[in-house]
Amino acid sequence: MLTKRLKADVKGKEIAAEILKKGGIVAIPTETVYGLAASAYDENAVKKVFIAKGRPQDNPLIVHIADIADLKTVARDIPESAYVAAQKFWPGPLTMIFKRTDKIPASVSAGLDTVAIRMPSDKTAREIIKKSLPLAAPSANTSGKPSPTSAQYVIDDLDGKIDAVVMSDDCEVGVESTVITLVTNPPRLLRPGAVTLEQLKEIFPDIVVDKAVLEEPTKGERVASPGMKYKHYAPKTETYLVEGDSERFAEFVNSKQNAAAVCFSEEEDKITVPKLCYGSQGDESTLAHSVFSVLRRADNLGVQAIYVHAPSKSGVGLAVYNRLIRAAAFRVIKL
Ligand code: TXA
Ligand code: MG
Repeated sequence: MLTKRLKADVKGKEIAAEILKKGGIVAIPTETVYGLAASAYDENAVKKVFIAKGRPQDNPLIVHIADIADLKTVARDIPESAYVAAQKFWPGPLTMIFKRTDKIPASVSAGLDTVAIRMPSDKTAREIIKKSLPLAAPSANTSGKPSPTSAQYVIDDLDGKIDAVVMSDDCEVGVESTVITLVTNPPRLLRPGAVTLEQLKEIFPDIVVDKAVLEEPTKGERVASPGMKYKHYAPKTETYLVEGDSERFAEFVNSKQNAAAVCFSEEEDKITVPKLCYGSQGDESTLAHSVFSVLRRADNLGVQAIYVHAPSKSGVGLAVYNRLIRAAAFRVIKL
């Protein structure tokens, strides 16, 4: 299949919406990462998304809406607190899970009776949703690879497998949305993102962090968010997450043969092996913005191992840590 490159202008958005309404699949920009969209009401289109990504059948998709008013069409039993959160964080990188209505086909939710909903802040994304329908959209990467933060990364993974890509700017946030479920009592954080745990506690004081956020699920364990059980975001090169101060990190990586470092900009001068910086230590937003791109680039260095200096787990750092620990298949080295 020839994958069309569409501009993020009026015409491009119209063409994207037309393709989606006819049951096609289109990669669209969002503020977090690029998404691979299909009409959330079209079972056949949703099936194509799973096939193009090579996504496991039991991993549900997020439904993207353009208006808070659309929430009750796709979700039911919506608690008042969800509207408070929506007022504060929508449009933006927060996904909330509710019971689903009959409008949402079971395949979107991988057979679960729940549905994940988010309203993206990216204007191009919202206009395409408005012109078409609610869109089911996972990240537009091949399953298991780092999520795509630029149109080029989408093309690298999915060219020839999808109908079109809307070519817009690089994603501002860089990591996928925060996912919480409001179906459980108390609510649970299933995936950290740019809407931080600290911010969520102001609306959901009793929110708990699901074990899968920082720990490896044991074999056969039932996880609340199926996506968290897969090896994820992973470069092909063996990757390790390294905890410790700058001196120790530099000393450790410098002693390695055939390895590369992913480091903070402050420590660049101390490191003698090939290196890529992903931002300043403590500047969690920049680290989030760069993390997936740096993992993709590190994979092209042709080394045998990648050692990533771990960020702090506070604020957006928790999201960066969560993605890195998966990219590293839970191999953590404490210096
Ligand atoms: O920022 C984002 O959320 C991006 C952009 C494109 O919007 N999308 C995204 O989708 O990251 P995806 O499919 O890569 O990740 C969705 C995550 C998965 O871990 C999935 O298991 C979880 O959300 N999820 C979706 N629906 C769920 C449900 N009903 N119950 C539990 N987890 C759910
Ligand atoms: Mg994904």
